[in-house]
Amino acid sequence: MSVNADLLESFKSEFLGKKKINTGSGGDNENAHTMDVTNTADYKIIEKIDDVYGRKGMNNPYFMPRSSGLSNKVTSRGKEFICYSGYNYLGLANDERVINSAKRSLDQYGTHAGAARMVGGEMEIHTELEQTLCDAFGFESCVTTVGGYMTNVATIGYLMGKCDLIIMDEYMHNSGVMGAVMADSRRIVFPHNDFDALEALLSENRKNYEKAMIVVEGAYSMDGDLADLPRLVELKEKHNCWLMVDEAHSFGVVGKSGRGLCEHWGVDVRKVDIVMGTLSKSFASCGGFLGGSDEMIRLLRFFAPGVLLYSTALPPASAAAANAAIKVMLEEPWRVENLQNNVRQFSLLARERGFDTGESGASAVVPVMLGDSMLAVHLMSDLQQVGIIAHAVMYPVVPENEARLRFFITSEHTQEDFIYTLDSLKRILANTTAYTGV
Ligand SMILES: Cc1ncc(COP(=O)(O)O)c(C=O)c1O
Repeated sequence: MSVNADLLESFKSEFLGKKKINTGSGGDNENAHTMDVTNTADYKIIEKIDDVYGRKGMNNPYFMPRSSGLSNKVTSRGKEFICYSGYNYLGLANDERVINSAKRSLDQYGTHAGAARMVGGEMEIHTELEQTLCDAFGFESCVTTVGGYMTNVATIGYLMGKCDLIIMDEYMHNSGVMGAVMADSRRIVFPHNDFDALEALLSENRKNYEKAMIVVEGAYSMDGDLADLPRLVELKEKHNCWLMVDEAHSFGVVGKSGRGLCEHWGVDVRKVDIVMGTLSKSFASCGGFLGGSDEMIRLLRFFAPGVLLYSTALPPASAAAANAAIKVMLEEPWRVENLQNNVRQFSLLARERGFDTGESGASAVVPVMLGDSMLAVHLMSDLQQVGIIAHAVMYPVVPENEARLRFFITSEHTQEDFIYTLDSLKRILANTTAYTGV
């Protein structure tokens, strides 16, 4: 069954199978029905979390409103927290140069992007940002978009079609999976970072399809480990595939100067057909970008649906903030160094206290593996009560036995933050009897 058909089936059984009669104002009406979303498995998860937090007199920890800027500390509902739930990896979101760049662009352009890039939404700040990205990362060409998630969906969905093969790591971000759904190609997943398995699958299947694309993340957003780029380049050349690498969590983080996976592995960026990145992580802004050959980027600039075609451009203030942030990153290499040292230190301190941090250590994402969604939710709430924000990642985002707390480490965190956090976590866990029967 195709991915689309799978998705349609699960949608039907989850929602359409449970449609309920809406009595409305005129009594029972067989023809008027709404879908009762409270019966869905996902809604039950929300209610379970409400319940855990409600019993502790707390608010649901998701959508916690922040009233301060974002650094290692944040303020929410009048209380200060050490925060591990922000992507501000290099601490640039509060940098004066970044803020002033956004302010100047507001003065020059106003708040609005105008329209889609090709029909009235093109601004000089877009071109300037794309040049900055090319200079920083060595792309032949680059285009920026209005969102990272939709950049993956649109690129994969547009470039690939029914007669093609998309082969992706099993841990690929949902945006890549949805790109494959849109493409309606044959989709095969290979076991996480198992390149022998990838090779075997390519040997068996590549010949049956016209185009083929290998899709991976540079640094995995749940586990914090890296893809083996030299091996991927070897395989994509041997089997005549495109290689697309999502560097959302590796730009600004991985490589000596934060230039990402290619810098880390010493691979020429032109060996990667499509590099995808976001402006929303290290670069203190919002939006996505694509790097590749002149021709590939030209094609996507015209036709990538939902991020370039049929969609309004990146707002000028966001473009200007990212433009300044990338320049500051390059001018101040100590930020990347601090971040990488902090990751090493946090991981070491965590392991010294007996926590399982999986395969992480090479990027800013460090999980503490727990293997039980409700345990993760309880620990998240107990940490919150002692002034620490670290969010639980649970089923269905990861398999139940891989539920975890996920820590985003930044260049701004201090050793004091880490020791307080990990000692608190250890103490809470030691006092935890069984969190079952919730
Ligand atoms: C690996 C990966 N790719 C893409 C995205 C989407 O990026 P954005 O948040 O900029 O839409 C994310 C979001 O966190 C991500 O983790």
